[in-house]
Amino acid sequence: MTYGDEWTEDQAGPSGPDLTQGVAFAELARCGKLVGHVCEEEVLLIHSEKGVFAVGAHCTHYHAPLVDGLVVDHSLRCPWHHDCFDIHTGEALRAPALDPIACWVVGQRDGKIFVQRKHEAVAPAPRTATSGKTPENIVIVGGGADWVRSSRATTP
Ligand code: FES
Repeated sequence: MTYGDEWTEDQAGPSGPDLTQGVAFAELARCGKLVGHVCEEEVLLIHSEKGVFAVGAHCTHYHAPLVDGLVVDHSLRCPWHHDCFDIHTGEALRAPALDPIACWVVGQRDGKIFVQRKHEAVAPAPRTATSGKTPENIVIVGGGADWVRSSRATTP
């Protein structure tokens, strides 16, 4: 690398310990969250009162580092725009993210946590609150509503 070259995340390679070789459970319990990798993919280990979970380390919205997010019950909240992922399934529970994060199988042996493969992708359960129904009212927030008002004002 020479002066003027840009350093990119791709050049840096995945960070943290190789989770296929295991990390000490005591270290994870002390930190609460830990970023490691499986091959070239960064994986976030989470120790919560519900257990140990392994998920993709970056938000599917704008790639925020989820290690800086907040774990509340079974959810992980992105530090940038506050979407929310289910740490059991990876499902995006709240916008702006629409795509799930990966979930990994966690093993424990001899005081170490191991991560070696992803869970098979599971189709998210259909949302039933509005399934098959057309809403009676729609609220447009932001420039969209202003555009509607101004376009009505200029329409003959
Ligand atoms: S980067 Fe996570 S919600 Fe935008």
